[in-house]
Amino acid sequence: MNIAIDGPAGAGKSTIAKILAEKLGMNYIDTGAMYRAITLKAIENNIDFNDVSSLINLVNNTDIKISNGRIYLDSKDVTDKIRTPLVSQKVSKIAAISEIREKMICLQRELAENGNVIMDGRDIGTVVLPNASLKFFITATVEERAKRRFLELKAKGYDVNYDNIKKEILSRDEQDMKRKISPLKLAEDAIVIDTSNKEIEEIIQEILQQHITRR
Ligand code: CDP
Ligand code: CDP
Repeated sequence: MNIAIDGPAGAGKSTIAKILAEKLGMNYIDTGAMYRAITLKAIENNIDFNDVSSLINLVNNTDIKISNGRIYLDSKDVTDKIRTPLVSQKVSKIAAISEIREKMICLQRELAENGNVIMDGRDIGTVVLPNASLKFFITATVEERAKRRFLELKAKGYDVNYDNIKKEILSRDEQDMKRKISPLKLAEDAIVIDTSNKEIEEIIQEILQQHITRR
């Protein structure tokens, strides 16, 4: 059994997926972390984000591994480094390149081939794991999502501004929803959960209920 969780930035996907994985004894795979890791490498190598062939070449020479909730880029643990505002601002450009997506999707399917995986992202229920036994589309208003991201980054010590975060999230939503390949969209058989006014525990209980019903 695999569970797919999709939705826009700051909706609560990874927080929810991590708790569920723990409660259900499943492996959590954060697919956004893969696109973020490539973005980090492109920034560190000063690659022009409009130079698609260099970006593809970079990915073809990159090793990405996920293990125990950590992500390794060419064997280096970059789990914390991929969460910076600069990576967030650039990542959707990388994620719109079809050759890069194909490579990531292959990797994601391999990670899920033995089942028992909870995977979160944008296209998990629609493209990566269309046969997942349970699919959720987690969302919230952009104001609520920007507020959450603002508080999260502030707590980590970043000098952040709410309006800039809201703008970055809106721009990323638009790029993710409008791209030709694997856009962020609701899978026909996904259960929609609006988390705007919900506590995390309430959402977890709602999902666990669905999990019991579908088994
Ligand atoms: O944590 P947050 O929701 O801000 O983003 P994320 O899940 O880390 O994903 C970062 C970016 O990667 C997204 O905005 C998408 O552009 C891209 N992404 C994607 O295209 N497909 C996925 N399955 C996961 C992420
Ligand atoms: O993975 P995604 O970008 O969808 O969101 P997240 O990283 O799981 O959540 C963003 C922030 O919102 C985290 O700091 C969560 O603790 C917080 N959150 C919240 O306050 N209330 C919720 N119902 C869901 C998430």
